[in-house]
Amino acid sequence: MKLLITGGAGFIGSNFVHYWLKNHPEDEVTVLDKLTYAGNLRNLETVVDKIKFVKGDICDRELVFSIVKDIDTIVHFAAESHNDRAAMDPESFVRTNVLGTFTLLDAARLNGLKRFHHVSTDEVFGHLPLGAGFFNENTPYAPRSTYPASKAAADHFVRAYHITFGLPVTISNCSNNYGPYHFPEKIIPLFICNLKEGKKVPVYGDGLYVRDWIHVEDHCRGIEAILLKGKIGETYCLGGKDSEVSNLELTKKLLALTGRDESFIEYVKDRPGHDRRYSIDYTKAKSELDWEPRINLDDGLKATVQWYADNQAWVDKIRSGVYQEYYKRQYGKDESLTL
Ligand code: NAD
Ligand code: TYD
Repeated sequence: MKLLITGGAGFIGSNFVHYWLKNHPEDEVTVLDKLTYAGNLRNLETVVDKIKFVKGDICDRELVFSIVKDIDTIVHFAAESHNDRAAMDPESFVRTNVLGTFTLLDAARLNGLKRFHHVSTDEVFGHLPLGAGFFNENTPYAPRSTYPASKAAADHFVRAYHITFGLPVTISNCSNNYGPYHFPEKIIPLFICNLKEGKKVPVYGDGLYVRDWIHVEDHCRGIEAILLKGKIGETYCLGGKDSEVSNLELTKKLLALTGRDESFIEYVKDRPGHDRRYSIDYTKAKSELDWEPRINLDDGLKATVQWYADNQAWVDKIRSGVYQEYYKRQYGKDESLTL
């Protein structure tokens, strides 16, 4: 395959680049990434000689069309992805997540690509009450805040391009990921970094919000299974292995793994429009793709805490902002990378 991986310098995208090169070394990989605050070329440091990296915007039609000429498959990760930022700056979410996806779809359609895989989230389905129900592929869309609203709009465009133009698409709607290269603004890496530095961890509201955590490697295997065995035009829901916990339970696990006590918990003001619970029923992926998650939360968290301990230099460069200098040194360009 000749793959274009958008957002390949971000958390899940970079894990996917590593996963794909390891398991499909014969394939050609191009990464297109704007290197926003969430993009970090250091995530690809060890494979930079094995890929073609293009710094650019998925909304840049001319650039996208020129790249897609040499590609047969797009795996689309690039997005604005953080709910707290979405409440402050919804416009950038509409631009990248909706207009950017549309631009890629149009390039894929007009260049006759073999596959467009769109990486989406379970947050498009809205939220569930505590202790009852699951999301699956038949759950109606009901996003409640601007990040999932923009992802939902993108999902609809992907399906419309399949129905209207016959573009060979697949979609995955996955639950909350964690693992290596996770930017420390999301709860798990933020709390690991704070606790290691002896700082308190901000638990929003009552801390009883529930997420269905999936290790990023299981997510990458799921996307691989969809690319290799998925049916064109179909959606697959991917979720974690017995990993539904409240934020408070999650925090207590991280306290134990970092040797801190409950005095490090700080309850803070709640997030506006905070979704109560997400939970995925992945029966379809299991029966049609023979995929299921393998990494349970305790093992995955232990490995993740260890990864952050082993990669202190990566953490320090992000926490200080120095990571944004790496592109200039690597590629000898003097463009300033803005936050
Ligand atoms: P991330 O924020 O870590 O990475 C996003 C990447 O996209 C960054 O490298 C950024 O530089 C790049 N990017 C942003 N705007 C761009 C633009 N206009 N042009 C080109 N590149 C741009 O996000 P993530 O957590 O790795 O999520 C990746 C995808 O997976 C997203 O589509 C997200 O909606 C989806 N997803 C995430 C999760 C999760 O728990 N993190 C769960 C399910 C689905
Ligand atoms: P987050 O990691 O931002 O992912 P998402 O919004 O996609 O679910 O948040 C996960 C949960 O953790 C969510 O219920 C909000 C909560 N949270 C906190 O309690 N404190 C924090 O500092 C952060 C970042 C999140």
